[in-house]
Amino acid sequence: MRMYDIIKKKRDGFELSTEEINFFIKNYMSNEIPDYQVSALLMAIYYNGMNNRETADLTFAMRDSGEMLHFEGLNGLRVDKHSTGGVGDKTSLIVAPIVASLGVKVAKMSGRGLGHTGGTIDKLESIKGFKTDIPLNQFIDIVNDIGICIIGQTKDLAPADKRLYALRDVTATVESIPLVVSSIMSKKLAANDDCVVLDVKTGSGAICKTLEDSTKLASIMVDIGKKAGKNMMAIITDMDRPLGRNVGNSLEVIEAVQTLKGAGPEDLTEVCLVLASAMLNLAGYGDTETCRKMAMEQITSGKAFETFCKMVERQGGDASCIRDTNNFEKAKYTYTVLAPKSGYITYMNTEDIGIASLLLGAGRNKKEDNIDYSAGLILNKKTYEKVEAGEAMVTLYTNKPEAIEQVEAKILNATIIEDEIKDERPLVFKTII
Ligand code: URA
Repeated sequence: MRMYDIIKKKRDGFELSTEEINFFIKNYMSNEIPDYQVSALLMAIYYNGMNNRETADLTFAMRDSGEMLHFEGLNGLRVDKHSTGGVGDKTSLIVAPIVASLGVKVAKMSGRGLGHTGGTIDKLESIKGFKTDIPLNQFIDIVNDIGICIIGQTKDLAPADKRLYALRDVTATVESIPLVVSSIMSKKLAANDDCVVLDVKTGSGAICKTLEDSTKLASIMVDIGKKAGKNMMAIITDMDRPLGRNVGNSLEVIEAVQTLKGAGPEDLTEVCLVLASAMLNLAGYGDTETCRKMAMEQITSGKAFETFCKMVERQGGDASCIRDTNNFEKAKYTYTVLAPKSGYITYMNTEDIGIASLLLGAGRNKKEDNIDYSAGLILNKKTYEKVEAGEAMVTLYTNKPEAIEQVEAKILNATIIEDEIKDERPLVFKTII
């Protein structure tokens, strides 16, 4: 078998066999196939796609490129939740403690920010002292004791994804459904949870911009998870507007704390309740309506917030920041972007809002860049809300005053204000099981 022939076959629109896909992953991982040939194959996949069988084969080959986690000694059903990536998406910080406070085990491995989207691990690391590189045996102990622990991905988990992702990032082949599916699902299957709820985003801030593509992405991921024996559900939620008002690492932790205390923004609270009830439902706690009430009760009783505090303490974090969010370090400079005219915000390009936060210092331009945890922005006004000309629309937080002018222009360019709202997108589109 030759890599050249595999590239040619996919270039010409033909289906790859299981053996060919296994050959490609195995020999790439043993450095027998160079990056330039893999780049060519990725581009051929980007243009010609893969059918569901090929996508499943690629996922399983990538999963098997490293170790599968086995949670010997962990008591109880493990349920995970994974988002395909968004702006202001801090749902894991809220949903995980809600379900853990009800007895579900959340042994979660999360990622860092990617492109214009934020990552749970970066957000948690904005809490002083919080450790995300905990050894596996300690990770299991913490989950057994308090029901929840969130760490970064271990390097042995689906290592083929790490290499392929880095190549996709520099060859303009990230936005390909089979490549996104295999990237996410190889890691989820290697992490080996019992149940997985996928939050598949759709809209201008998501990888899949259209509902049609997001539906396709969700359906294939659910099918592959089921094939591997997992209890799966996908929920398609809106990412044509940032979720909540805060974007940026410690700003998002602050908003997560407000939401865990029952004082969060309506859209964020709603998406969290939908995801938490889906996780509880998969774990056998009853129908989604009953589970939603249970999730809500964990917020109003303060139990979900207490579980979050326990997790922060057990993972070495300074819980005083969580109990009083004024203790978070603040950015040196703030700047207010004013509404240029009166009316309703009918659209805010969400990818641009994510990039604005990144330019203020909240994300990385290169893998090795440091993050400024205090940087980001707060949307005082957001999509579908009324503004008056000259009113504070967005507040910027940064330690890079030189970025402010460019960021202000980006936000104003990304925002459309009209006299009326013509149609409002739903927050939750559909569930796929
Ligand atoms: N998240 C991933 O882990 N991989 C992708 O390809 C996209 C989002």
